[in-house]
Amino acid sequence: MAKFFGNLNAVLVAGLVLLIAVLTLANSWSNEIAMLTFLHVICGIMWIGLLYYFNFVQIPTMPKVPAELKPAVSKYIAPEALFWFRWGAAFTVLTGLIVAFRKHFLVDALTLAQGSRLIGIGMWLALIMAFNVWFIIWPNQKKALGIVEADADTKAKAATTAMIFSRTNTLLSIPMLYCMVGQNLGAAL
Ligand code: HEM
Repeated sequence: MAKFFGNLNAVLVAGLVLLIAVLTLANSWSNEIAMLTFLHVICGIMWIGLLYYFNFVQIPTMPKVPAELKPAVSKYIAPEALFWFRWGAAFTVLTGLIVAFRKHFLVDALTLAQGSRLIGIGMWLALIMAFNVWFIIWPNQKKALGIVEADADTKAKAATTAMIFSRTNTLLSIPMLYCMVGQNLGAAL
């Protein structure tokens, strides 16, 4: 039992097998949009889950961690978390754009046309957030964590910039998530 649950890949395969059973039981195989939306939400959880981990756990706790233990976070945990974080963001954008395209409202949403305005606002908020991840948070984190060379002053400034944009994304995630779920619940204008 411990051997199985100790192996993440085995657990993921078991989850997939269970999904196949559910799809068969519910006769839901032919719903391509549902499948795409499902992939979109899984990627979104990976991204926003780690964003919330950084903001609710890592950033507030780091000042309390004794200096000699800090490298455990900055050298091992944070780089790994940032890997899943930035790729989660990229695949959330990709799958989200595909869902909008397959549902025939990609242009309407991005131009904030009536009927698709709520999801359009959500998509723009999430696009700004993904831009922040790839072009501000990640380059600054690379300096702050010592993945690329930087002097102490540059490192400290980079850590502050990364923190500000990570907090900005937490702020934007609140209306963004309402837009994502509201569109399908009749909350759209
Ligand atoms: C640029 C990034 C994103 C784009 C382009 C995008 C696009 C979309 C689209 C087109 C839909 C379908 C809406 C509809 O059926 O009317 C959707 C739904 C959804 N998205 Fe996103 N999204 C993005 C980011 C995110 C993020 C970061 C999350 C976080 C978890 C997320 C979670 C969801 C959820 C939960 C739904 C609702 C699914 C449903 O009710 O069917 N999305 N998104």
